[in-house]
Amino acid sequence: MINIALLGFGVVGSGTAEVLTENKALIERRLGCEYNIKYILDLREFPNSPFADVIVHDFDTILNDKEVTVVAEMMGGSHPAYDFTKACLLAGKNVVTSNKEVVSTFGVELCRLARENGVRYLFEASVGGGIPIIRPLINDLSSNKINKISGILNGTTNYILTSMRDNGASFADALKTAQQLGYAEANPSADVDGIDAARKIVILAALASGKLIDPKTIYTEGITKITLEETALAQLFGYTIKLIGHTEIGENGLVAMVSPRMVTSSNPLCRIDDVFNGVLVDANMVGEVMFYGPGAGKLPTASAVVADIIDIIANRDADPKPIVWEQAECGDLGDFSEYACRRMFIFNGTDIPAGMPEGTAKVHGSMCALVTAEAISEKQTAELVKTLGDKLASVYRVL
Ligand code: HSE
Repeated sequence: MINIALLGFGVVGSGTAEVLTENKALIERRLGCEYNIKYILDLREFPNSPFADVIVHDFDTILNDKEVTVVAEMMGGSHPAYDFTKACLLAGKNVVTSNKEVVSTFGVELCRLARENGVRYLFEASVGGGIPIIRPLINDLSSNKINKISGILNGTTNYILTSMRDNGASFADALKTAQQLGYAEANPSADVDGIDAARKIVILAALASGKLIDPKTIYTEGITKITLEETALAQLFGYTIKLIGHTEIGENGLVAMVSPRMVTSSNPLCRIDDVFNGVLVDANMVGEVMFYGPGAGKLPTASAVVADIIDIIANRDADPKPIVWEQAECGDLGDFSEYACRRMFIFNGTDIPAGMPEGTAKVHGSMCALVTAEAISEKQTAELVKTLGDKLASVYRVL
């Protein structure tokens, strides 16, 4: 009998209890052993829940119980989630998590503690909700050098952008619905300001490069400034505006960023709508591989948490395959100002100002836009922006 403890009984925690219960017979048959949810840690009481009798409020009950060998952390936030995770690993307990904040901030240390204590720290649910992406990057693409990863990594913002584009929903109403559906973070600023996507892209970049970048240091821009006019201009070009996490592992180092982008119709990320996420991986042997599925929500995220629990139980007698990350240092990072891509410049007025690079222009109402034919760097873009003054409404990176 394997005893499991769940930390947190919110959206993902209750979903994990549900998956472990609903699919118990099937999972146990696949594992060839039985399991039991021994404890669920939460501050609240749940008198009407079928799990009421396993709710505990004191973390030490779990930590000190030697029978508990697998702990699923789904509390959200850095503290006490990080502290509890560390204590569990040091006590020789395996930990799985959906907590991208903890993985992206403390992943180097927690993976090292797992190695040193002969246990595993797994985090499939931390990126892309229910999409299998972490394990495929570690296992199935391990014969490749990863060159680039681009992804729609936040379900809440993709849901909002799709509702605004297709249903004319207001930003506030679309966000409210995303919260009701259990997609959004406790503080939705993490979603709409791109912070959640930044945490996820640095996790993917670390899986690709072995170097974890502090997510607070990467260029991060959210979706709050996108206007209906810009959405309409995008559609004139056959593009869709998506919040994109992007990383490149080049000869000059590792670059990662999050920003809204004009996604061209030839890019498969263009057609990923609502709460769905997509991750496009460019690798040197396989070429391009795309991962797609529900990026947030109770049962999809729980499905990934339980996949990690099953992995740990199924391989409990094997030597754990270590995840070895180092904290990215200055010398590991590429120069963001040299990052180059095509750009869409959007202007107030219907004339393209003189001195702009070659490209394709279109007019919508009292505005116009130019998509450059060639890639231009961040540095060149910033210099152009300075010269344009009030004529410029906004600039988007094109994908
Ligand atoms: N708030 C996150 C999202 C949850 O919307 O993608 C899943 O990580």
